[in-house]
Amino acid sequence: MMNPLYSEKSFHVVSDHVFSNPFQLEDLLVFDPQTLSDLLADDLRDLSVNDLAIAFHDAPEALVRLVRQALPEEHRARFAERQRLRALAPEVAARRRRILDGLFWELTYWKTPEWYEELTEGERLHPGIFRRLRADLHDRVVLDAGAGSGRATLDTLRAGARHIYAIDPSPGLLRILEQKAEAQHLKGRVTPLRGRFDALPLPNDSVDVTLSCSAFTADDGDEARRGLNEMRRVTRSGGKIVLIWPRPTDLAWLKRQGFTHEALPMQGEMQVHFRSLGSARRVVQRFYAHNEAAQQYLRQHPEPAIPFSVLGMQPPCDYVWTVVQK
Ligand SMILES: C[S@@+](CC[C@H](N)C(=O)[O-])C[C@H]1O[C@@H](n2cnc3c(N)ncnc32)[C@H](O)[C@@H]1O
Repeated sequence: MMNPLYSEKSFHVVSDHVFSNPFQLEDLLVFDPQTLSDLLADDLRDLSVNDLAIAFHDAPEALVRLVRQALPEEHRARFAERQRLRALAPEVAARRRRILDGLFWELTYWKTPEWYEELTEGERLHPGIFRRLRADLHDRVVLDAGAGSGRATLDTLRAGARHIYAIDPSPGLLRILEQKAEAQHLKGRVTPLRGRFDALPLPNDSVDVTLSCSAFTADDGDEARRGLNEMRRVTRSGGKIVLIWPRPTDLAWLKRQGFTHEALPMQGEMQVHFRSLGSARRVVQRFYAHNEAAQQYLRQHPEPAIPFSVLGMQPPCDYVWTVVQK
């Protein structure tokens, strides 16, 4: 299948984001060429080579070099050729906005991981999830794929796992994960590793359980299938794959791949608990700047807790699982 990144499609800007985006084009320098190449193919696949050339028109040389390196060899000449042509300021600005908004979350993970940590530290998973998984995790070797700053990693260790490999592409999030593990005297039982779903840096059959929390998505069927195959490869036969807090829109796809869905009952409404009112305000200002309900809720309830429903999110109270058979 041809990657639509390199097709000639008409360009449009999607602007229905609730976040406020503080990133600048120069912030893309945080990515290495391979990571940017992966992001172009995943998150920006609707952009053509021409769009990219226009977006980086008159950009600093280091940035242009990075993008050129991130492009497949066969598209570099066209990128350079289009770069030499004129580009109008509004068309440059529209494409830059599309890129920065499309990479908002990745830029958050890589450039300002402490912001992501502040956002998620209050988004606690339903405690019943790890109570139910305890028997599967006790004394087991586990992989947390897309571990981020370790929300599920540390819960897994507290549920009795012997050792956990925490794999994520973002060096900044893995650093925070290590600091948290150290502060909780769990560091000796965690191995942080850089890596992606589609190329997990572990040998075949090396873990008893693979889990992933709020990270694995079925957006692009082919890539999701590659990720799932990798999770099956590294998990021993008879072990489980558990995906915590799947997106509701992915459930049908996951069921077709053999997963069973478990939703835990909630006692009352689940809330996000921020560390302080100041933290709640900061987080809402950045991540929910254009969510009027969240803004209004904080004005009316000046407290460090906001219901998930007000933020427009499904609460983290479910998971899907499947048994690996080889
Ligand atoms: C929403 S965060 C969830 C992080 C963590 N599991 C949690 O529950 O807080 C998504 C995570 O997926 C990671 N990620 C993005 N692309 C990935 C890929 N291709 N393979 C593995 N992880 C990826 C990001 O770096 C980020 O840490």
